[in-house]
Amino acid sequence: MKKYPIILGIETSCDETAAAIIQNNNIMSNIMYSQSIHKKYGGVIPELASRLHYKNIIQVVNAAILQANITQKQLDAIAYTRGPGLIGSLLIGASFAKSLSMVLKIPLISVNHIHAHVLVNFIKDDQHNIPKFPYLCLMVSGGNTQIIQVNSFFHMKILGKTLDDAVGETFDKIGNMLGLAYPGGPLIDKYANGGNYKKFNFSKPKIQGLDFSFSGFKTHILYFLKRKLQHDPNFIKNNLTDICASVQNTMIDILIEKLKIAVQITAINRIAITGGVSANYFLRQKITNLCIKENWEFYLPNNNYTTDNAAMIAMVGSIKYEYNMFDDINVVSSANHNII
Ligand code: KG4
Repeated sequence: MKKYPIILGIETSCDETAAAIIQNNNIMSNIMYSQSIHKKYGGVIPELASRLHYKNIIQVVNAAILQANITQKQLDAIAYTRGPGLIGSLLIGASFAKSLSMVLKIPLISVNHIHAHVLVNFIKDDQHNIPKFPYLCLMVSGGNTQIIQVNSFFHMKILGKTLDDAVGETFDKIGNMLGLAYPGGPLIDKYANGGNYKKFNFSKPKIQGLDFSFSGFKTHILYFLKRKLQHDPNFIKNNLTDICASVQNTMIDILIEKLKIAVQITAINRIAITGGVSANYFLRQKITNLCIKENWEFYLPNNNYTTDNAAMIAMVGSIKYEYNMFDDINVVSSANHNII
């Protein structure tokens, strides 16, 4: 086994075809092809996603190898997303990774997508310290909202999770109500920037413990908009920035309140955030301010590694390589896949 293996990571769990190369926790290349075709349907169409992965995967992997300035023969292992995700999309990445590992006669490493999001902060970059165990990870993406206690690379405990919609999904659905393109999250973030977050007051769900619920909040916004539009058909147009700021502020407050409770319960004051929503400017600012005020350590991923990406898959590939955790060619992809 090499001390500093060069590992290719492949991510195809949803609508991003991505490949990255890592060595010694440094990202040598990170290529991502985002499938914009889904925008016109307001959500990801699984069959179209699979076909586009199939069409683009060779080019994306070749581009990653080129950008890293290496040759295929220098690769020491191939890591790929086993699940969770869209099964058709996962199978394209799995088949490609398995074939390449057989041809190059190098180990195959399957990676859980959520596990990769949680460990993304181990990628070396200038923006943050490398996490120390144990830490609390707020995992906020299109499909997941969880607070995870990370005790080691392979020992994690979910302390709280959403009982219904994920926070990213809620951003996207509210974006849709506001007439914004898919995905609405980054656009709400953008418009909120110029808005007054105190303009509209939205009530927060009262959920015990560390679990979340966003479904009632989403319906609350739907009826709020319906009511306002009855009196003023231009209500959204004339108040877009303030609505976005107020919605975003409430959602981020819900997340932060739960995080504070998690710190209280566990007495762990090291915080990481991860997943697509961790790109949110306001969330990053609020977490940063809170952690500085409370003297908590915090780890925010580089913006390139917040939404689905292959760098995080390569990162877990690197850790699993170190622990000799390799997979057989018969490993099965799964739409639902437990954390490791
Ligand atoms: O992690 P990710 O790529 O997908 C899943 O694996 O689920 O996250 C995508 C989600 C989308 O819901 C998108 O709207 C949200 O992340 N997102 C954001 C921002 N950037 C992406 N939400 C709020 N603010 C952002 N800046």
